[in-house]
Amino acid sequence: MDKQQEVSEAEIAVHWKEEEYYYPSARFIAQANAADPAILERFREENFPECFREYADLLTWDRYWHTTLDTSDAPFWKWFVGGKLNASYNCVDRHLAKNRNKAAFIWVPEPETEESQTITYQELYIRVNEFAALLRDFCHVQTGDRITFHLPMVPDLPVSMLACARIGVIHSEVFGGFSGAACGERIVDSGSHILVTMDVYNRGGELIDHKAKADQAVQVAEANGVKVDKVLVWRRYPGKYSSPTPMVEGRDFFVDELLPAYRGQRVDPVSMPAEAPLFLMYTSGTTARPKGCQHSTGGYLSYVAGTSKFYQDIHPEDTYWCFADIGWITGHSYIVYGPLTLGATSVMYEGAPTYPDPGRPWRIAERLGVNIFHTAPTTIRMLRKAGPDEPAKYNYHFKHMTTVGEPIEPEVWRWYYEVVGKGEAVIVDTWWQTENGGFLGSTLPALQPMKPGSCGPTALGIYPIILDEDGKPIEAGSGRAGNICIRNPWPGIFETVWGQPERYIETYYAKYCKNRASKDWHDWPYFAGDGAMQASDGYFRILGRVDDVINVAGHRLGTKELESAALTVTEVAEAAAVPVIDELRGRAVEMYIALKPGYVASNDIVEKIQTAIDTLIGKVARPKNVWIVPDMPKTRSGKIMRRVIASVSNFTPVGDISTLANPEVVENIRGAVQGAKVARGDVPRELSPAELEEIGRFGQVE
Ligand code: PRX
Repeated sequence: MDKQQEVSEAEIAVHWKEEEYYYPSARFIAQANAADPAILERFREENFPECFREYADLLTWDRYWHTTLDTSDAPFWKWFVGGKLNASYNCVDRHLAKNRNKAAFIWVPEPETEESQTITYQELYIRVNEFAALLRDFCHVQTGDRITFHLPMVPDLPVSMLACARIGVIHSEVFGGFSGAACGERIVDSGSHILVTMDVYNRGGELIDHKAKADQAVQVAEANGVKVDKVLVWRRYPGKYSSPTPMVEGRDFFVDELLPAYRGQRVDPVSMPAEAPLFLMYTSGTTARPKGCQHSTGGYLSYVAGTSKFYQDIHPEDTYWCFADIGWITGHSYIVYGPLTLGATSVMYEGAPTYPDPGRPWRIAERLGVNIFHTAPTTIRMLRKAGPDEPAKYNYHFKHMTTVGEPIEPEVWRWYYEVVGKGEAVIVDTWWQTENGGFLGSTLPALQPMKPGSCGPTALGIYPIILDEDGKPIEAGSGRAGNICIRNPWPGIFETVWGQPERYIETYYAKYCKNRASKDWHDWPYFAGDGAMQASDGYFRILGRVDDVINVAGHRLGTKELESAALTVTEVAEAAAVPVIDELRGRAVEMYIALKPGYVASNDIVEKIQTAIDTLIGKVARPKNVWIVPDMPKTRSGKIMRRVIASVSNFTPVGDISTLANPEVVENIRGAVQGAKVARGDVPRELSPAELEEIGRFGQVE
């Protein structure tokens, strides 16, 4: 028995193979914002919380703060108390003196026949002011009110966000791909009376009717007691209404028809207390009430400014492209607020990664001279699957790339590094969450080497600890896994769950807090809900959500670990591991596989996958079944819905699949997999309620 099989029940077993380091080039180091190791000293724990002054000093304050961190209402942390500032001023106005005509955004529409739009800081200033005037004078919103947006990837989205920020109104953007009902629920939760939406947008070659969702959202909101007074509709093609859904008289208004009345208007930025909420970002639960993560003005903006500077290495002359959706926290922090506080040029793209072909992102990069690229493993896998040789055909050069949002398999990392980055770009694997505002784990790109599959150490001023289920610390650097926690608050941490302060405490702090009366931050470790291990070099490997862990014969296996092993097989493009109830071992693993184009399913491939898992992890992890399927059920943001697959394997109801990007694949998979299982006599017994619950929430994108 090897060392790792002797872990206690409270830990998570790990079987990762150690990876080799990759080093940044001398050229990258020579220009990096954080190239002097003294920065690591400045952010040592003995300098906390004052070390974060360095981030806050990147902003322009109307009034400087007196207390860096106030813990008197722990765990509701307050940063930079006494300070006042305006986020829109910091993102826009203050850049005008030197960079008025520099591009703030370059927006690329999906149809290649449409010109991209360059929005200078001056132009952004004008649009933000005019829309702020409209919100104030036409919608009569006031500081502290909430407004819900349901907008796709168009420049009107950051304009709307910054207009709210200008007048101290809290914005709540709901990801454009979400249903009208999901938007309606979030309207209710936040108590918004204004909805800002768009008629249509382009996605995957289609003009999607988006306005229809607004009607549904308003209906759902009204049915739940919140009346939406006005729906503001930006038109994708101003002057031309492109949706077949009728406008509702007296409720719905075209923004481009209202705006001329506000032409040339200027709205003074409202000076907001540092701890005033800037926005809500909902996490997407499907069973429970959504959680509106409330982010602050001063702490949040400081944190995204600092991390954009040191981790994204953004310089004024860079062209930075974060290929994410602003409907997620990544887009808020690293398309809009972070880059704009630094006066950068931020690229936005309307459409799908592989439209009209998988060379599209690389054409955009080449044409715009993008040199910093930021995306998620799911996009990287998709591009690798659809066009593994495409990047080489285009003449672009990245100095820096980011991966974010889920663990990246080392195989996929290497493709990103060698093929997308052409061996020239550093990669930061940034681990964090909607709740966190900005990065929690990452290498500092010029100072700490990369290691595929590991995010690296925690970010500056973030002091981690791994605890087991019983709250016992797991020795730092021991390679043993448990629940990763952050011992201290940091400026980007959310302030609360909107309207549910008790849920904020219960979900994130109650698990490991030993003294609820304590006002000392040391007593309130933040429970991230992720499994992780720390290697002897201090690097963390995130194993996925702790509720994604599969317990096989008392042996807890991270799904990502299993999936990474499957991905070492050449033919495999995507892999998803799910638990099946197993009489002998408690749980067994079932593996779902999608192949790269040009390969056909065969027993030979199944054998190779089994062997890879046997050798990389051990026989204990050997999947009971490997199902090769044409496609995985995915959310519109591209995450594989493991809950749905797990239900298929366990013959339980698949639940609500209306938010999937491709609900039709579920029936195909179910027919094939359950048919094969029935033929083999492999139908599970009736499950207990606890087992049903476990399968129903497995891998849920929460
Ligand atoms: O499990 C971790 C995973 O994504 C979760 C957070 O998801 P969300 O709130 O949607 O935010 C995503 C973008 C910030 C985490 O609990 N995760 C995020 N980044 C990584 C990651 N897992 C491994 N490596 C990462 N780099």
